[in-house]
Amino acid sequence: MRRRNKLLLGFLGVLTAAGAVFAVVLSRDAACPPAAALSESGNSMQAIRVHCYGGAEALRLEQVPRPVPAEDELLVRVRAAGVNPLDWHYLHGKPYVMRLSSGLGRPENPRAGVDFAGTVEAVGSAVDDFRPGDRVFGAASGAFAEYVVVDASKSVVHMPGNIDFEQAAAVPIAAITALQALRDAGQLQPGQKVLINGASGGVGTFAVQIAKALGAEVTGVSSARNTELVRSLGADHTIDYAQEDFTRGGPRYDLVIDNVGNHPVAALRAALQPEGTLVMVTGPKNNPWIGPLGRMLATRLTASFASQTQVTLFASTNKDDLAVLRTMLEGGSVRPVIDRRFPLDQVPQAIEFLEQGRTRGKSLITMGD
Ligand SMILES: NC(=O)c1ccc[n+]([C@@H]2O[C@H](COP(=O)([O-])OP(=O)(O)OC[C@H]3O[C@@H](n4cnc5c(N)ncnc54)[C@H](OP(=O)(O)O)[C@@H]3O)[C@@H](O)[C@H]2O)c1
Repeated sequence: MRRRNKLLLGFLGVLTAAGAVFAVVLSRDAACPPAAALSESGNSMQAIRVHCYGGAEALRLEQVPRPVPAEDELLVRVRAAGVNPLDWHYLHGKPYVMRLSSGLGRPENPRAGVDFAGTVEAVGSAVDDFRPGDRVFGAASGAFAEYVVVDASKSVVHMPGNIDFEQAAAVPIAAITALQALRDAGQLQPGQKVLINGASGGVGTFAVQIAKALGAEVTGVSSARNTELVRSLGADHTIDYAQEDFTRGGPRYDLVIDNVGNHPVAALRAALQPEGTLVMVTGPKNNPWIGPLGRMLATRLTASFASQTQVTLFASTNKDDLAVLRTMLEGGSVRPVIDRRFPLDQVPQAIEFLEQGRTRGKSLITMGD
């Protein structure tokens, strides 16, 4: 018996030590290399690069080789790029658990930015549905640059004729997240009552409009300074979160979309009808190890024990949903809301602004002519 206890203690000790080593490896920030000099040469471009995890100071404007498209790729001249919380997560390498895929110590992929809109500069030999000069928008790694390459079969479509590059660059991640939250995770039906917590940000401004386009009765939760904006996007009702907590009493909803993560799951469920659905787009961000993933995963694990439906959303960009959004943009049922514009050399300032969590709609990086 005593020997078994000793063995168990030994095993626990080894496990704790292994856990501690793993935690140190996962959270270690490698030193940043010195900044490379900006020197222009024939086939080069300016691009934002990230060679170490850190704050905005880790974002460097560099002169790098212009990418060459493979046979199934497009080379796009970027005219505008959208700024997303995802860019912030990649920059900080947080939550730390994401470093298992993004790189231990420093990012494996130094490119930054995802959402882009621009003109096709060149196409690979196997691409037949795009031509040089086409106006396109989509999602690809490295959008904070003068040029980006994108797989022609993945997240890129032609732009609608009635919007400009800035409006198009605001769309991909935020609008696809909103669409997948409402249509797929939330299974929203016409006539249902939906509440959108965080209605004035990137995801929220699209969610209000898409929910209206899908025929829902929409309540948007925002601060007082954004009430008019949320109403102008079509919300039937608005709640100022400083005046009213929608989880305490008040109407019950068929669907709650949480873009903020500031209420406990039990409180969010209290705002639902007995057969209602809660879609977690995010969760509390105070845990540096797993961030919002902690609550999102716990919600997913306990979902089958709850009478109401709980869904954790992990949105994925794709061509089909970009095409759905293009149709909505063409028809005028969705219009991007643009907050601030920054030039390429001010990506650090753009990320710092995003981190304040006060963006109204989307902020953009604009390239000029
Ligand atoms: N699961 C996924 O696949 C997925 C995909 C995309 C994004 N996300 C996550 O979704 C979240 C939202 O993304 P986003 O792009 O919309 O962010 P965002 O644009 O930065 O959101 C900013 C907005 O949040 C509002 N806000 C802040 N505190 C609020 C509160 N207590 N109640 C209501 N609104 C509040 C702000 O309005 P005020 O200034 O008026 O407070 C601001 O308009 C982020 O955490 C992001 O990481 C998840």
